[in-house]
Amino acid sequence: MVIAIDGPAGAGKSTVSRLLARELGFIYLDTGAMYRAVAWALRKHDLRRHEANLTLEMLEQLPLRFDLLDGELVISFRGTRLGDELREPEITNMASRVSQLAAVRAFLTRWQRQLADSGDVVAEGRDMTTVVFPDTPFKVFLTADIGTRARRRQLEYRDKGIEIEYGLLEAQIRARDEADEQRSLAPLRPADDALLLDTSPLESPEVLKHLVAFYVEKRRHSQRGGQNTVVS
Ligand code: DC
Repeated sequence: MVIAIDGPAGAGKSTVSRLLARELGFIYLDTGAMYRAVAWALRKHDLRRHEANLTLEMLEQLPLRFDLLDGELVISFRGTRLGDELREPEITNMASRVSQLAAVRAFLTRWQRQLADSGDVVAEGRDMTTVVFPDTPFKVFLTADIGTRARRRQLEYRDKGIEIEYGLLEAQIRARDEADEQRSLAPLRPADDALLLDTSPLESPEVLKHLVAFYVEKRRHSQRGGQNTVVS
């Protein structure tokens, strides 16, 4: 079973996907972290110069592994687990760039489907509902206005002791939205049959409640053998 969740940066996907996975006993698949890991590995292997000519074979040869451990995605590079280093600003920028490459998308789409074969997952990213798991009936598109998203990012950084000016964060988010929405491969957009949820006025527990209710309702409907419910 796959619950696919897409949306722009700062819409609250990671927090609620993690909560939802815990609530349902599913595996949480943070696919943004997988794109960040590829960027990190390319930097480590000094392959940045070759980005434009990357092939699937080159990516397969990287000592990068994605495993599931106790319901969590574990990313490792030559046996060492990657974590906070994937959140560095340089990696964030590189991830946005490499996510536009066909070889990288093919490589990670295959991994994501393979990981989802191991159990029930909540998969969160930009193309979960449209490209990677288009057949799942559980599709959600989370959004929030730009001000809310920039403020959330500012609080996340503040929690880590980093102070970043609000205007700068808003500009970065706008630039990333544009890159994600305008790219030719797997652009960010809601699937036709996705539940659209604006999280601007909501706290995470309220978003979680909406998602659990949506999942329960959809599952009841599919067990009755019906067609997709109409959601807005
Ligand atoms: O969600 P995030 O900020 O960690 O994602 C990092 C980058 O990866 C972001 O620029 C968008 C890209 N991405 C993608 O293209 N497809 C996904 N399924 C997940 C992330």
